[in-house]
Amino acid sequence: MAPGGWQIALIIIRAALVAATTAVLRDLSKQSRRGSSPAALRRPGWCTLKAVATGDAPDPADPRDPRGLRGDAPLLDAWLRFTAQADEGKLAPMCVPGHKQRHDLVGPVVAGDAALYGGLDTIKHADTLRQEAERRAAQLWGADWCRFSVAGSTHGNQALALAIGSPGQEIIVTRSLHRSLLLGLVLAGLHPVWVTPAVDPASGLPEAVSMKTVRAALASHPGACAVYLGDPSYVGSYGDLAGHAAAAHEAGVPLLVDAAWAAHLGFHPDLPPHALAAGADAMVTSAHKALPAYTQGALVLARTGRLDAARLDRAFEATHTTSPAGTIMASIDASRALLARDGQELCGRLLRVVAAAKDRLRQVPGLRVLDGPGVEPGKLVVLLAGTGADGHAVERDLINAGSPVEMADRDTIVPIVTLADDEGTVAWFADALAAAVERHRAAPRTPVPAMAWAVTPQQALPPREAFFAPNETVSATAATGRISAELVAPYPPGIPVLAPGEIITGAALSALRAALAEGGRIAYAADPSLATFQVVAGE
Ligand SMILES: Cc1ncc(COP(=O)(O)O)c(C=O)c1O
Repeated sequence: MAPGGWQIALIIIRAALVAATTAVLRDLSKQSRRGSSPAALRRPGWCTLKAVATGDAPDPADPRDPRGLRGDAPLLDAWLRFTAQADEGKLAPMCVPGHKQRHDLVGPVVAGDAALYGGLDTIKHADTLRQEAERRAAQLWGADWCRFSVAGSTHGNQALALAIGSPGQEIIVTRSLHRSLLLGLVLAGLHPVWVTPAVDPASGLPEAVSMKTVRAALASHPGACAVYLGDPSYVGSYGDLAGHAAAAHEAGVPLLVDAAWAAHLGFHPDLPPHALAAGADAMVTSAHKALPAYTQGALVLARTGRLDAARLDRAFEATHTTSPAGTIMASIDASRALLARDGQELCGRLLRVVAAAKDRLRQVPGLRVLDGPGVEPGKLVVLLAGTGADGHAVERDLINAGSPVEMADRDTIVPIVTLADDEGTVAWFADALAAAVERHRAAPRTPVPAMAWAVTPQQALPPREAFFAPNETVSATAATGRISAELVAPYPPGIPVLAPGEIITGAALSALRAALAEGGRIAYAADPSLATFQVVAGE
């Protein structure tokens, strides 16, 4: 190498060493600011936390608030302030969470975590902040009462079950309900009067529960305390909620709706109205499903004409954590602010990308999509039977391609498309799905409805009684004809094929075995191999 070349090489090496040393020093200083060196703390926590309550001017250029939502989202605003202070090493919290904003113990897995109480605001003032965020959500959905849950629609369903009637009272409920509501009935001691949806033979999927069915149940069970429907269904079929509300109200009872998948409904003229707008008295919805909120974020919304606000609060608190994650709460608040401001535009894009994906998939010979009246247009449900492809094999290919779907059984694939998807992601997914179908194409078949959609249970004991009854474990053969003490649900969709108090029929057993043999996940069973079952002892 020429002397000039050595000099240049030395300059480059020296520059690289300086850059590396600077980076290490920067990292060390950041590390110490995150709590490893108390000397590095510039200010103790509580004085800076006060800024949350008094409200400094938000920074419009904060890249952590890309759409500038904080001005209309008090919990998001508080989260942005708190986490900025934590990152700058300005906090020395002497309250939970126990990671104390340090990332040198379990690592960045706790990054961004902030408690509602003692994080987003001081323990004594956080409720005021929370109530303001919930008030804004109530206003958006036209409710009188709203609570943010950090435990999903699971908690919301259980809260509503505890908010109505009294133990021993009947309640009219969709049998294709999610397991969370069934366990809500166990908690509340309510006795279900089941109403079942019709199953469309062409798709093997459930339609909405009909008005006729609910009216008949109301007429034959005048002591029922409420009607509780899942609408839209897991596959997006929706019914006449205004008609159901009118029927329930004529009978003097409230209509409650599990709308876990439908937080976006009502925010575009081409979407059906949300449950409260249709006349329901309460609804539960997962902000982490249809909206861009943190996992577990959910809302419970109610009108207080037929429901009591204090009882709703009591019921909600009964099974909610006393340490709600402020990060989840803030993401619900941010999603609400986004929906309020940009909901129509984002729902419009959702409708466009889903319609385009449906058009693309219809071009694949034999492939169908669920569509038409009574099907939520933002939902994409793909019907494989005409292609002969097995949904589990197609799902495996999609997982390998980095696109896990929400549900797949032999005949059906349910991808979830949300406000976060755009033309590019959904078009890419539709192509990947079409290619996977081609790889697994086989002889067309007739779809077989999954048992979960079509359960017609033989109820021998109320769910609560069976849940708490002495039980024994017996072989599957001996279990046939006995009363189930446990809840068994292929998941997804999480609809119990067997529930506490129901007779274990041969049909239920073979449906569960078929789901298992196909590669489905059998959730909540004490013995997921289905070799044994827990049954009520001596019955
Ligand atoms: C109809 C229905 N209700 C409630 C839930 C529970 O929702 P979460 O997962 O938010 O607890 C689900 C979950 O998939 C569901 O499908």
